[in-house]
Amino acid sequence: MDGFFDILIIGSGAAGLSLALQTADNAKVAILSKGDLSAGSTSWAQGGIAAVLGEDDTIQSHIEDTLVAGDGLCDEDTVSFVVREGHKAIDDLIKNGVHFSKNNKMEDGYGYHLTQEGGHSHRRIIHVDDATGAAVQTTLEEKVLKHPNITVFENHIAIDLITNRNLVEYALGGDETCFGAYVFDIKAEKTKTISSRTTVLATGGASRVYLYTSNPDGSTGDGIAMAWRAGCEVANMEFNQFHPTCLFHAEAKSFLISEALRGEGAKLLLPSGEQFMKRYDPRAELAPRDVVARAIDAEMKKLGLDFVYLDISHRSQDFIIGQFPNIYRRCRELGFDITKEPIPVVPAAHYTCGGVVTDLDGRANLDNLYAIGETSYTGLHGANRMASNSLLECLVYASSAAKHIVENIDKIANPPAIRLWDESNVVDSDEEVVVSHNWKELRHLMWDYVGIVRTDKRLERALRRIEMLEGEIQDYYGNFHITKDLLELRNIVTTAELIVRCAMARKESRGLHYTTDYPETLAEAKNTILTPEKQ
Ligand code: FAD
Ligand code: SIN
Repeated sequence: MDGFFDILIIGSGAAGLSLALQTADNAKVAILSKGDLSAGSTSWAQGGIAAVLGEDDTIQSHIEDTLVAGDGLCDEDTVSFVVREGHKAIDDLIKNGVHFSKNNKMEDGYGYHLTQEGGHSHRRIIHVDDATGAAVQTTLEEKVLKHPNITVFENHIAIDLITNRNLVEYALGGDETCFGAYVFDIKAEKTKTISSRTTVLATGGASRVYLYTSNPDGSTGDGIAMAWRAGCEVANMEFNQFHPTCLFHAEAKSFLISEALRGEGAKLLLPSGEQFMKRYDPRAELAPRDVVARAIDAEMKKLGLDFVYLDISHRSQDFIIGQFPNIYRRCRELGFDITKEPIPVVPAAHYTCGGVVTDLDGRANLDNLYAIGETSYTGLHGANRMASNSLLECLVYASSAAKHIVENIDKIANPPAIRLWDESNVVDSDEEVVVSHNWKELRHLMWDYVGIVRTDKRLERALRRIEMLEGEIQDYYGNFHITKDLLELRNIVTTAELIVRCAMARKESRGLHYTTDYPETLAEAKNTILTPEKQ
């Protein structure tokens, strides 16, 4: 055994770090990150965090906006719970030292500036300029690194959860339980066994499954795939959110242009200068993301365009640079001046609405396993996440799971003896090309066949190819020493299969899932819940 902890947290974004800080006074905690601590999406978040903070805003209004965006599929108890906890989550961040942008007389509310994003009927996005995630991440990291009860393992990638079938004495009986994780130390190229009383998946989303994405490289659905292999239910994977506006640029494919620009009046334009969004929705640029992304996709396909334009140059230079300093700077580096000209933008995969099914305490359906943040499915987002509700969900569920863990940790026995990782049958690979080729093929096919607009035929085609890739990858995994790339490929191909299976099961168009074979929305809204076969 290479380590035993009360709590093993896999993932060091907003969700994982918040949970660590709220449990570490009472428990011995380990945090794993497969990169450095800030490798996840949290550091990249721009717009901010949605919460009811403005004087004219109400809990009911935030709930209603979330339900409308979720297109009939949100869990109302979850939405009400998360929205009501929003103010406290922001207060906690402020106490931890996050310096949100102050109100410089532009809008009222809480002493902080609140911005607007699609689907929100009020200004309710609290932010740190246009780099909110980086501020949250660095503040939480500083606290975590100083805490004596927290051990950080950077460049350690979890391979699989340890469950009853990995015990020395397998025939334990009783419920299936999680006892920690097998972990690959990427730098030392060594596999470790880390056991724990409680394990928390906080591994982020899976948007790297698509060729074009706003996400960092590590968004490969690891938590979802590990939970699935360990027997957990996974839901609503067909709802992949495409952000309407990523910069179209060869060197900066993932650079997001925040929705907050549209909140502050930026317009979407065709090359002719026509502002087209009103033809699709009366809310125009501030319609929810699914509507805007589909409208852009339709115009690009109709006119054979590589991109459309986003223009905020009608606002004053001082306003633009004051409000969006990082976007301004990055665009300047790439040759665009957003204060003077429209910039080219395209939709890209941005957020995974589905994930590991949990309850209000973040518990998955495997004893002693929790899932929080983007890797989870809580019912908050339904068929479409509203902008800036994600960081909110990370923070609220980190707190509810932390509370539940602290209240129950003393009742959990130490794990029984666990079988160590066995590498005796594998050798060094002489065919790395299989891994890199399959990575590319998978991301291409997901973009072409399982993208913004879907059909039955394309989904069937995608599934056939995915099953073939899965066979090859499993074969490779069984014969060669593991690498980070191989582990991520193994996870992302599973995630791709779950996305396609969910998409095939939904015989309607709803929220982010649009298929030309079933363009109508059915009267009854149902979740797509997948349950793994018992092994
Ligand atoms: P992440 O922050 O993604 O962290 C995942 C962690 O898991 C990382 O530490 C990673 O190393 C680790 N990990 C993953 N797999 C493994 C493994 N196998 N082993 C070990 N470690 C592993 N949301 C908002 O609410 N507001 C915004 O303004 C906003 N802007 C965004 C802008 C961009 C460009 C992007 C990409 C996303 C944005 N989002 C925004 C979404 C939001 O940032 C994410 O949903 C959220 O940060 C996810 O946090 P998380 O803690 O769940 O995971
Ligand atoms: C953005 O700033 O547009 C991203 C906000 C989000 O994804 O919630």
